[in-house]
Amino acid sequence: MSRIRIKEILKTTPTEQTITVKGWVRTFRNNSFIALNDGSTNNNLQVVVDFTTTAEEILKRITTGAAVSATGILIASQGKGQTVELKATSVEIIGDSDAEKYPLQPKKHSLEFLREIAHLRFRTNTFGAVFRVRNSLAFAVHKFFNEKGFLYIHTPIITSSDAEGAGEMFHVTNFDIANPPKDENGAIDYKQDFFGKSVNLTVSGQLEGELAAMAFSDIYTFGPTFRAENSNTARHLAEFWMIEPEMAFYELKDNMDLAEEMLQYVIKYALDNNLEDITFLSQRLEEEEKQKPQNERAELSLLDKLNFCLENKFERVTYTQAIEILRESNHNKKKKFQYLVDKWGVDLQSEHERYLVEKHFKKPVILTDYPKEIKSFYMRQNDDGKTVAAMDILFPGIGEIIGGSQREERLEKLETRMNEIGIPLDELSWYLDTRRFGSCPHAGFGLGFERLVLFVTGMTNIRDVIPFPRTPKNCEF
Ligand code: 4AD
Ligand code: MG
Repeated sequence: MSRIRIKEILKTTPTEQTITVKGWVRTFRNNSFIALNDGSTNNNLQVVVDFTTTAEEILKRITTGAAVSATGILIASQGKGQTVELKATSVEIIGDSDAEKYPLQPKKHSLEFLREIAHLRFRTNTFGAVFRVRNSLAFAVHKFFNEKGFLYIHTPIITSSDAEGAGEMFHVTNFDIANPPKDENGAIDYKQDFFGKSVNLTVSGQLEGELAAMAFSDIYTFGPTFRAENSNTARHLAEFWMIEPEMAFYELKDNMDLAEEMLQYVIKYALDNNLEDITFLSQRLEEEEKQKPQNERAELSLLDKLNFCLENKFERVTYTQAIEILRESNHNKKKKFQYLVDKWGVDLQSEHERYLVEKHFKKPVILTDYPKEIKSFYMRQNDDGKTVAAMDILFPGIGEIIGGSQREERLEKLETRMNEIGIPLDELSWYLDTRRFGSCPHAGFGLGFERLVLFVTGMTNIRDVIPFPRTPKNCEF
């Protein structure tokens, strides 16, 4: 007999048909009522066991965490909170669980504790909801680009280029690291390494994505990226997933329009398809907020915040305007920023980004035209000679969620900039070829997928929206 998912069962009305469900026991009350969960929804199916006809041996093994199969008929439920329940005619124990040793008890556990048992936290209501929303968002990303006729391209994970030029890369080698071969100058001889040169895990698929856009016009990548930045914050991971579209014949404004449309599309998709889970997470967050002093509580609930993002256009401001706003702010004058904003050219810290979004504009903000010194080499140089056609999208509670730009399509300008910064032209000659053979204006951006999931689930630590977080000094499972 085939297994029916609990989410489907809970939508149906009582039938006389015999069905089978399989899942894990959340609780077992009064030797009669199993709350059974199979991960398809946070709502459990109540399975009613007749203890007068069920063997004592079986009853004893219906413990929290055990995997069981139950067969019976669906009847109208007497209890509150559900319309149907399963009147079991047989219960089979598939996998025992020692209730004494099972780390998840039917009570509230801290997120920190659950992170240590990431192999079991999937079975909790909070993480059930988070990972179902994550799944929907990933699907929505593919759906969005597919409907727009974009080509999904797989960019490499092992690469010899540092796309962001920030040098925060994980080295990949199969040398015996205690004893690597040396050349005549005593330096490590990468010619003898697996790839015959020094290579890394990718920090971004952008450069390879640009090559594909110069042939397919509109492409995107969606894959894992790796950064060895030692940022132990609630918004940084060493391994995260990034969505990077790249479009030929796009300028900065087209890029911003696409990014805004995509964000609104995927948020709407999650609201339309995961309302139950998002409502659960919204209520969870309200409970959390109650622990905080009144003046620190969020003004909007999670649901209201998501709807607000759908109904309002993002604010578009230049870096130069933003610096003015920050410099003139009372926050700056009263020295409430850790890093005071004194002159044009400084990089924005997350406290500044959050001030702009949460205090000043009170909505998502797209910041454009940053000083070229604080942005990557590939960004298109503006006519003022000082700024580049960059755009960052800042979200409430998150800060930067998207980073992107129009790309420098003029070979001479690009080479000059690379020389200024000291990026060897020969190493990126394959990239420069696109500017030699049929170059054209193009643009793209990168969306940090976990930051999006943070925003939509209302979770506050990025470690809680990826199944197995990798952060400095932490790589369990
Ligand atoms: O701003 P970033 O570094 O931009 C790029 O990598 C470009 N190549 C993207 C492009 O134009 N194709 O990173 C893009 C986004 C950030 O806005 C942020 O959301 C996320 O990636 N991100 C991280 N997310 C989690 N942990 C980290 N350590 C992250 N670093 C960046
Ligand atoms: Mg960035």
